[in-house]
Amino acid sequence: MKLVKLIANLGYGSRKDVTMMFREGRITDPDGEVLYADDKVPHEHIRIDDEPLDPPAGLALMMNKPLGATCSRKDQGRVVYDLLPPRYRLRDPALSTVGRLDRDTSGLLLFTDDGALLHRIISPRAQVAKVYEATLAQDLRGDEGELFASGTMMLEAEKEPLEPAALEVLGPRQARLTLTEGRYHQVRRMFAAVGNHVETLTRISVGGLVLGDLAPGQWRALQAEEVAQIFAGPAPR
Ligand code: URA
Repeated sequence: MKLVKLIANLGYGSRKDVTMMFREGRITDPDGEVLYADDKVPHEHIRIDDEPLDPPAGLALMMNKPLGATCSRKDQGRVVYDLLPPRYRLRDPALSTVGRLDRDTSGLLLFTDDGALLHRIISPRAQVAKVYEATLAQDLRGDEGELFASGTMMLEAEKEPLEPAALEVLGPRQARLTLTEGRYHQVRRMFAAVGNHVETLTRISVGGLVLGDLAPGQWRALQAEEVAQIFAGPAPR
């Protein structure tokens, strides 16, 4: 791909803007040598204003989604895209969240511009385990685990029963729930169906990828091995 298109597709500006950046000598190699629009240079050797170029298409990111941000692109309030550099919203192919977390859910949120990867992670067929920790308003009754694991649990207004889900009791009002699908408000609706209410909810892993020590609001690009970990079974605990 020509350099002007490549850089414009990363959200640095229109092709006209990027052509101007070349003319101004702002695009260089790592030694500060000015690059020209027709040069053939590996991606990792391109600098803009001395900064390395953003990662190429095929990008995957993880974020610790903070409470209060929505996964929408154009919500009125704070959105998760506000936590990324503004040009990331302008990338082509577009960067999307891999599924969604509610405004009041925190934790591991993935983004990618790779549609096939996104589909592989969220498809129930792929059986990628998503693990949530919840604090509840009421004590657990004791029979929730059996119902959640049954594969016959129906949520209101749904036509298909839920896939079996594993409940681990962490305390009288604390539970860890492992899902292999992602229906609308699923965790909250499952606990509501057993007469409880989710007070706090955090996603701690997706497949073998764990949130780790990423602070709320922080994000980072994933290495290829980390993307592979998503499909390498449940996260170690
Ligand atoms: N289930 C929910 O209820 N909310 C989320 O954000 C994710 C799963």
